[in-house]
Amino acid sequence: MANLKAAHFKLFITLLPLIAISLADCSFREVKVDTGFSTTVSQILVDKCIQCHSSQNASAGLYYILDSNALISNGYINPGNASGSLLYQKLLANPPYGARMPKSGSYLTDQELLEVKNWINSQTSTVSAGSDTEVAETYRTVSFSTDIAPILTTPLSDGTQTNAKSCIQCHNSTDQAGDYVMSLNGTSVDYTSVLNTGNRQVIAGNYVTSWLCQKVKANRTSQISGLRMPHNSVASVNPVKLTSDQVNQVCHWIKQGALNN
Ligand code: HEC
Ligand code: HEC
Repeated sequence: MANLKAAHFKLFITLLPLIAISLADCSFREVKVDTGFSTTVSQILVDKCIQCHSSQNASAGLYYILDSNALISNGYINPGNASGSLLYQKLLANPPYGARMPKSGSYLTDQELLEVKNWINSQTSTVSAGSDTEVAETYRTVSFSTDIAPILTTPLSDGTQTNAKSCIQCHNSTDQAGDYVMSLNGTSVDYTSVLNTGNRQVIAGNYVTSWLCQKVKANRTSQISGLRMPHNSVASVNPVKLTSDQVNQVCHWIKQGALNN
């Protein structure tokens, strides 16, 4: 017993400089350790992602790779649906856009991929159709021209945003973000282009399946993937979100039939 303790103590002393170095390193990087992930998954993220996705170095503006709640509310992780989660898609060959992660190479092994996949699939979605606390039961009549059009054409900024863009500044015929192309009609936005008829963005009467409503919310129904909108492609800029009043305007405009009013 005593021998074992002595051996442990010796090991501890030998490791002390190492521990000190790694602690110093951690506080320097301000790594935020999150208990939401399983130990294995957070270890993978620490080993392979934080060098580029922490507050010190935020590639693509993604600085909260260890914060599972922020990843979920910003749409990188779709709880219960790994294959519909951008974070998982980016780990595979042929991601929807950009490079396979980690960008430096040393991709995840099959076993590591499985760990991430299983963790995401084991999470439960906080929203199911019909129990959506972000969208009020009732709301005033929403107008396309006075409520919706300004939301789509005004850059959102809290004053600290260096590159705040309006929805239409990314969703136009040049950038074609997410293949959702809106056009201008004078200084306002063209109604028909917002409907994107025949597509999934606006399904008149049904905000639960309409991507325009679900993508601006913190929690979305499980078939919706990708980032929470608006997005900001500039590193270390966290985009300003729509206010809950604006979210209600968008979703209730759809619920009320997505009229050109
Ligand atoms: C060497 C730097 C580097 C490492 C390491 C790295 N990334 Fe990235 N990551 C980037 C860059 C640069 C981009 C933006 C370009 C792109 O999407 O290809 C990016 C983009 C992303 C995006 C898309 C963000 C967005 O808003 O479009 C996700 C998700 C992501 N990385 C996840 C990860 C994960 C998970 C890991 C670890 C397994 C990882 N990255 C490791 C550099 C890195
Ligand atoms: C800086 C650029 C940028 C801004 C600003 C932006 N978006 Fe996006 N948007 C994207 C990109 C990139 C995608 C595709 C990736 C994704 O879905 O995560 C996308 C996808 C979408 C989609 C899903 C389209 C589909 O069918 O897959 C919707 C809906 C959407 N955005 C709505 C909005 C709204 C509403 C706003 C303004 C409140 C907005 N976006 C602001 C870049 C942007």
